[in-house]
Amino acid sequence: MNPVLVSSNPSSIQTELLAVTAADTQTAKGPNAKPQPTLLSTDPALLAACAAVLSSGEFKAAANETLLLHAPAGIAARRLLIIGLGKADKLAPIALRNAAGTAVRFCKPRNLRDLVFALPTSEALDTAAAAQAAIEGAFIGDFDPDTYRSDRKDQSIASFTLIAPETDAIKAAVNAGFILGESQNFARTLVNEPGNKLTPTILGQRAAVMAHEVGLQCEVHSTEKLHELKMGAFWSVSQGSEEPPALIVLKYEPPVVPGKPAPKDGPVLGLVGKGITFDTGGISLKPGAEMDEMKYDMAGSAAMIGAMRAIALLKPNVRVISVVCSAENMPAGKAQKPGDVQTAMPFSDDEPGKTIEIINTDAEGRLVLADGLTYARQLGATHLIDAATLTGACVVALGTTNVGAFSNDAPPWEKFAAAAKTTGEKYWRLPLGEEYAEQIKSDIADIKNTGGRHGGAITAAEFLHVFAGETPWIHLDIAGLAWIEDTKPYIAKGPSGIAVRSLVEWVKSY
Ligand code: BES
Ligand code: MN
Ligand code: ZN
Repeated sequence: MNPVLVSSNPSSIQTELLAVTAADTQTAKGPNAKPQPTLLSTDPALLAACAAVLSSGEFKAAANETLLLHAPAGIAARRLLIIGLGKADKLAPIALRNAAGTAVRFCKPRNLRDLVFALPTSEALDTAAAAQAAIEGAFIGDFDPDTYRSDRKDQSIASFTLIAPETDAIKAAVNAGFILGESQNFARTLVNEPGNKLTPTILGQRAAVMAHEVGLQCEVHSTEKLHELKMGAFWSVSQGSEEPPALIVLKYEPPVVPGKPAPKDGPVLGLVGKGITFDTGGISLKPGAEMDEMKYDMAGSAAMIGAMRAIALLKPNVRVISVVCSAENMPAGKAQKPGDVQTAMPFSDDEPGKTIEIINTDAEGRLVLADGLTYARQLGATHLIDAATLTGACVVALGTTNVGAFSNDAPPWEKFAAAAKTTGEKYWRLPLGEEYAEQIKSDIADIKNTGGRHGGAITAAEFLHVFAGETPWIHLDIAGLAWIEDTKPYIAKGPSGIAVRSLVEWVKSY
């Protein structure tokens, strides 16, 4: 899909479909306050063409509500699609992201390949942020997880033309939206791959190809390197599988700008991802029902790889490294057993590897991340963030609306929350604390890998906390949001690409 920016009058553009937006400007409240759909445009021909239907009461301008007019009088476009943005006084970029996605998903099944989307003219909106959101939303809406369907018609949109002022700020916003939308879809494509098509080795190859394309440094290691680094926790997960593990390291260095100091002493951001390409649970085998879903247990790593792609293209002025720990969690003769004791990676001679009692081999994500966090610190990360489909308990606690977020301090969390604000992704901070850390103390080792039935998302985070130590750190448990169960007007069901855009915004905030 090709995004185009033009500043023409919406009514004079010749296209298969012109999408315009309307918001509900009703300010009165109460049962008698009818919605007041108002077209967000100053184009007189457009206002005239929509006047009758907007006053009919048939269209309420609710978020993502659509109404199609064929051959509208006085308009060059062959079809006019009015999309609701919801309440006018609550207008934010997310409404535009979803409206653009809705427009694209309206066109796809109807075989309409080119559409034009008129950015609303509204005082309440930051035009550049709205333009970026609309482009992101168009890409997000364009994605369908149909790679393996024979009846797949290549029904992608060919061009998405945005009508907005052609200023430098908006041109940059369109470019950023393009990069972020494509990077989120890159992550979604990885998450959609089944376990047999995306092994740790193949994930490493995909990351390496992407890194080459966008100019990131990339190293992909396997068993030998895990042993060399003494990554006993990571290795313990992969030891039961015929598929070798992959330790993927991506590095981004900001370009040297003449006159600007190189950020040599500045922060190094470490992005750590859980990359379990399939999670059977291991010897603590999961029940059969819905086990197929565990192909998306690498969504945390896909988010990191997608974010690194966007970072390479957006070129923020900060160093970033990503450590992805990929393995397949299988039951086998060689698999680790409940009761086994593993030794995690040592950070240094002064900080030897912690010993871990394996209570449940299905709590494997924290094991691979433990060594990933240590390795990121060893590579020089001064700030850590990890993303993982870590616990079912997090889904129980927060449902599928909010990502569970954890941090070892208030400032890192506040910085992340501020960065994530414009993305429309929702994060909810959950607590850590000594009382929870007590739950993962082991009688026979330093810690154990599960903390009992209570507060499962938190005790999992406390496990990671041991390995993040004092380094400013954020943990994102994306188990409830990595896979969308029901199709929405603006996004297909399937892999969501959650966290990619927030991670990038967070990196840009340094
Ligand atoms: N990958 C799962 C968590 C998960 C569950 C992700 C549902 C997405 C949807 C993780 O490896 C796991 O199995 N966690 C266990 C931990 C338990 C054994 C302490 C869980 O949540 O049941
Ligand atoms: Mn598991
Ligand atoms: Zn898992």
